[in-house]
Parts: sequence; C-alpha cells; structure tokens
Amino acid sequence: MKWATVEAPANIALVKYWGARDLERAIPHHPSISITLRACNSTTTVEHDPEGSADEIWLATGAGELVVPPESFRKRAVAHLQRIREWAGAAGALRAATRNSFPMSAGMASSASGFAALTVAGAAALGLERGPAELSSLARSSGSGSAARSVMGGYVEWPSDPDDEACAAVQLAPARHWDLRNVIAVVHGGAKKISSLDGHVLAETSPHYARRREILPDRLQAVRDAIAARSLGSLGPIVEEDAIELHLVAMSSTPPIFYWAPATLTVLATVRELRERGILAYSTMDAGPNVHVICEPEGEDAVAETLAALEGVETVIRDGVGDGPRLLEESLL
Ligand code: PMV
Repeated sequence: MKWATVEAPANIALVKYWGARDLERAIPHHPSISITLRACNSTTTVEHDPEGSADEIWLATGAGELVVPPESFRKRAVAHLQRIREWAGAAGALRAATRNSFPMSAGMASSASGFAALTVAGAAALGLERGPAELSSLARSSGSGSAARSVMGGYVEWPSDPDDEACAAVQLAPARHWDLRNVIAVVHGGAKKISSLDGHVLAETSPHYARRREILPDRLQAVRDAIAARSLGSLGPIVEEDAIELHLVAMSSTPPIFYWAPATLTVLATVRELRERGILAYSTMDAGPNVHVICEPEGEDAVAETLAALEGVETVIRDGVGDGPRLLEESLL
C-alpha cells in the first residue's frame, strides 16, 4: 500500500476571489493574488489501496485519534478523492486523514489548505510526479477555488482563464522575496456562517460587482508592482480597499451577507490608529469576521500585542509568508 503525507498552508488574498463564471469548476470572474502562509496549515495523509473499493476520509485529532468529519466536509472530500483517482487513471480506494494546525472552531477558513493538502498527498500516494500548475488545476477542481493558490509558496496569482490549464495559479515571487507578516485577530463571531460558495453565487446580484470588475485590472497591476518593489506603503492601502469592497459586494447582494462581528470594526479602527503611531499595518478579511493584519517584521510585536488586548479578540495568530506544501514522513492513518 502506498501512502503520502503533505502539509499544505492556508493563504490570504491581497486581491480577493469573489464570484465565479463556472462555480463547479471554480473558474473565477477575475484573477486574484495571495500570500501563501506558513503557520496555518493542514496536514493530510492519503493511502492508496489498489484492491480497495470504498474511499474514506477522517479527521485526525491532536491525540492521534481518527474521528468522523462533519457530513458536508466528508461529501466534498470524498468527491475530491474520486476526482484525483480519475485524473490519475487509477483503480482501487483512497483512504485519507487530515488535521489543521489552527482550530477549526476559530472560524478560520481551512478549505484552501485542506484541499491543497488532499490534492498534493493524493497525487503523491498514487505515485504521480506532477508540476505545480497541474496540481493547482486539480486543487481548484475541488470547488474550493482558493486551494489553487495554496499549492504554491510565496506570492501567487490565480488567473481567470476558462481553460483548465491556463487557469492554474502562478508564483509571482518566492517567499524569500519579501518577509511580510500576517497577524490574525480571531474575533468572537456568533453570526451564522455563510459559505464562500454561496457568496460567489450571490456576487452578481450586487450593483457594485460590475464596478469592482472594471476597477480590478488596474488594482491587480498595482499589487503586482508593489510586490515587485517590496513596498508595503503602496500595497497596504490597496489591500484594505479590496477587502472592504468584497464585503461591500457581500452586504449589497440579494439576500445580503454580513460576515463582520462588532469586534471586526474594533480591529479595523485599531489598525488605523497603529498607522497614526507610525506602524505600517493594513487589514484584510476573508468571508468571515476575523481580521488579517499585514505588516513587516519590525511592526509585528506591536501589532500582535495591541490586537491581543482588544475586547472581542479571542486569539492572535502570528503568521508569515511560507514556501508552500511539503512532504512529511509521518502517517496520520
Ligand atoms: O475558495 P473559496 O471558494 O473558499 O473562496 C475564497 C473566498 C475568499 O477567501 C473570501 C477570498 C480569497 O480569494 O481567498
């Protein structure tokens, strides 16, 4: 029986993916750009039994136990195992176990790292040595589009080409190009979670979505330029603007989606105050209430300490730019 274990990181988008022209294949309406993280990751073992007949997916606990995952996750993961097997032209069954380095209960998006890890481990268990572009397309086909960016390290762009191959993510710069930090303020949520998949469907019902798409080509170019120049002063304001715009589109969809919690606004205001104190730090948020604060190493302690002291902030996670997925020697199964 062949097996492989892969640790794959989450990523945080600087220009967000929001809205798909083909949701099933996760073909986005427009390109997005992200930073691949290093501390927030998923570790997944996939085992290939050539004689087996039923695929399995388990959640691995810290104590080394395997537990049954929530049904919605189980369905999506098993469908992806089937896709990986078909793509490889293999027979038999795949058995997988996965765990996250960050608490799922903290409301952190884990689908990008989870599906990137499942994809890369699945391909390795089936003995396929494929390049990152092909793995990116395969990860994207899980339906969790942002997983397409997590198979690569550093600064990553995911284009919006309807052709499968051309829609693979590309690395703009490796992690060592620029040591940016991401301090994550995990805030108390409470509000019902609406998945990003629902958000992608509703995006076009917002009157602001068409305008967003008009603005994006220039914004994407400005972000590529700021990364190339390692200029947080140029990058930060655009990153904040893009995140606010994603939430503007979500809040003005029909029906509207509100991801923010009261503490989200507290963190946003505090980050503006940090800048007034001369600390270069900028906020961004995904489809949830948590705030990711992008800063440079010299500002990280001040950002983390200030955010940890705020009411409504449950935990602060310190993360940075990472090198992408890596193979591990241990098995979770
Ligand atoms: O990959 P999905 O379908 O979970 O969508 C991700 C959406 C955002 O996290 C809000 C933005 C992004 O580009 O990561």
